[in-house]
Amino acid sequence: MQRRGFLIGCAAAAAAADGAALMQAAEAATAGATPHAYPRAQLVGADGRALRAADVPVRRNLLFHYPYVGTPAFLLNLGRPTRRDVALSTSRRERYTWEGGVGPQRSIVAFSAICAHRMAYPTREISFISYRDETSPVSGRGQVIHCCSEHSQYDPADGARVLAGPATQPLAAILLEHDPASDALFAVGTLGGELFDAFFGSFAMKLSLEYGSRAREPAGAITAVQPIETYCRQLMRCA
Ligand code: FES
Repeated sequence: MQRRGFLIGCAAAAAAADGAALMQAAEAATAGATPHAYPRAQLVGADGRALRAADVPVRRNLLFHYPYVGTPAFLLNLGRPTRRDVALSTSRRERYTWEGGVGPQRSIVAFSAICAHRMAYPTREISFISYRDETSPVSGRGQVIHCCSEHSQYDPADGARVLAGPATQPLAAILLEHDPASDALFAVGTLGGELFDAFFGSFAMKLSLEYGSRAREPAGAITAVQPIETYCRQLMRCA
């Protein structure tokens, strides 16, 4: 138990940025609360074929990278319609409205996987932040995005609103489009308090090791979706 706690602590320090300076940088870098358009990227499966909404498994934590090669995002099919037109605000009190999920059931959502507290994020080695379908003994909640670093929790059915923990704003939403004719899915932008400038500033070394010089390049015309368990060697569950 003690060893597990030690491992969590060490890895958390490696996966999340440190201290007040980061908080300052993160807040300073928070974008406006209007939609931010990025180059459109089609979501594809591991085989490179278009991912159809009908193929997105229910309540599985999928991961893709958008709007940059080095910025991870969660894709979730919550299996039920999300709330609609959710009023949210950033840590700078900038208001915005998250329209809700897309797809035939309006159940498919995407959010930046960079924690809004100290920017813990999924790497190839480990992730402290993930979608938790089961009820966690730590939080008593299920169907939430839970960051085990300091236990911020977000409700993906409510625009990633903060449910608990020290995060001061929702996860930035990734704006999705669904083409009813082909059932294809596209990422087209972000909404809310994106932290990309602070993220690239704080993790430049780690990101260059993982992505070389491509980390801040646009994700491209297609972006591959995969289960988080396939992407990360170790998934911290903190329970
Ligand atoms: S980095 Fe602190 S709760 Fe996620």
